[in-house]
Amino acid sequence: MSQSQDFTQLIARQNVAKPQCFVLFGATGDLAKRKIFPALFALFLDKKLPSRFCIIGLGRKPNTDEEFRKYVEDKILEFARLKGDSKSRREFVEKIFYLALDIDGDYSPLKKILGEKEPSFGTQENRTFYLAVAPSYFTIIPQKLKEIGLLHDKGCASFANIIIEKPFGTDLTSALALDLELKKILFEEQIYRIDHYLGKETVQNIFAFRFSNHFIDHLFTSEFVESVQIVAAEDLVVGDRVEFYDSVGCLRDFCQNHLMQVLAFIAMEAPSRNEAEFIHQEKSKVLRSIKKIDAIVRSQYEKGYINTDAVHGYRDDERVKNSNIDTFVGMRLFVDNFRWGGTPFYLFAGKALPRKYTEVNIVLKKAPFSLFPQSSQQNIISIQIQPKEGISIIIRTKVPAKTSLKPVKLDFYYDDYFSSESIPEAYETLIFNAMSEDRSLFTDRDELIASWELFDPIIQEWKKQNLEADEFYPAGSWPEIMKKVFLEGHYLVI
Ligand code: BG6
Repeated sequence: MSQSQDFTQLIARQNVAKPQCFVLFGATGDLAKRKIFPALFALFLDKKLPSRFCIIGLGRKPNTDEEFRKYVEDKILEFARLKGDSKSRREFVEKIFYLALDIDGDYSPLKKILGEKEPSFGTQENRTFYLAVAPSYFTIIPQKLKEIGLLHDKGCASFANIIIEKPFGTDLTSALALDLELKKILFEEQIYRIDHYLGKETVQNIFAFRFSNHFIDHLFTSEFVESVQIVAAEDLVVGDRVEFYDSVGCLRDFCQNHLMQVLAFIAMEAPSRNEAEFIHQEKSKVLRSIKKIDAIVRSQYEKGYINTDAVHGYRDDERVKNSNIDTFVGMRLFVDNFRWGGTPFYLFAGKALPRKYTEVNIVLKKAPFSLFPQSSQQNIISIQIQPKEGISIIIRTKVPAKTSLKPVKLDFYYDDYFSSESIPEAYETLIFNAMSEDRSLFTDRDELIASWELFDPIIQEWKKQNLEADEFYPAGSWPEIMKKVFLEGHYLVI
């Protein structure tokens, strides 16, 4: 493909999705109301939804179309980034139809409604099925869709793709088993595995920042980088999701997927084309270059204060009072390849920490010889994923009329260049890309398995061990134990 074709493809990515019917399993659930309908509505307002388009919402409870449309409108008003006006909301919800369906039961009502709506909306039998349901349904639904003939075969002019939420498995064995089951029903190109971090503008910008600024990417090697530090801190306790969270913990809820995807973008080589298959290959190669997790610690929050608010400890919740689950994970690993050999990557994620932020700090090496008095401050390229999105570079400059040096920041913040409304929510980007059959922002099978392979031995080990006394931290503070993963003499940004 020539450069101009590559460019045409990038532009095409920003246009209108293909004609289709969007079938949402779990349409009355939490994800649908908070994320999926608001995202679809934002796409509608941005004119990214095709004119030949309709939505079929599936849930257990009976509802008329009108009742369900009213519900969706209310949820848009409650949760959406863009709320539109009453006319636009009405136009949008008129594309929605509701069907009560027993997921384990007979799918002929779904076949029937598709048989009616597809010709009337001209959606060309293109279908996107979104499974916003419990993971235990990830194989049952595709199986039933296949049996009743709603999934197209390879080579068919129409598409039928499936979007799956995380978690994709709970360890290596279950992820492999789920993959095997799905592959009996679907081909890989039909499966869109969501990792909402890939939908974040700032995560995608890592790719653009590196590969469209050659001098920057030139610095991304062990020759110049002392360490890479990726931090995803949350200042909330687990709350209502505690029963689910207790079955996964921070390692599986956050590190195995989101953190590893951010790492892959930071460490990957430039793909030879800006296309899904080539991007996935490069990301997989990075994950496969990590031979093992070099050092890892876990910790669980106890009662404490977050921003002066008193909060309960994790085990203070009766439902998980004997839990050994990790609410914080810190680790060190090496990407054993030519570019990164010898540079430690430090990764941290957790709940009930002092503040919410996600950031990547690339700490650059000191000069081999210094003409100036030594300072502990090093050059850092800081990629701020959230909440204040931007990129900063910390350099040293001479203090006027003195011989001393002072660290200063070269800052780029999104706010200064783009309106906040122009930054889409992660789900808008991901749903639009899935509807456009662009898989570049979805996790492919090899990346997923490579990541599970790394963490599986740790998951198995942790299952056998109770938390020790030093594996707790007061909510609202950084766990002391994280220091164990740092190598002597490294500059730490946290
Ligand atoms: C989800 C996790 O995937 O990501 C949650 O299940 C976590 O536990 C959330 O809170 C964080 O997402 P974000 O976009 O707020 O960083």
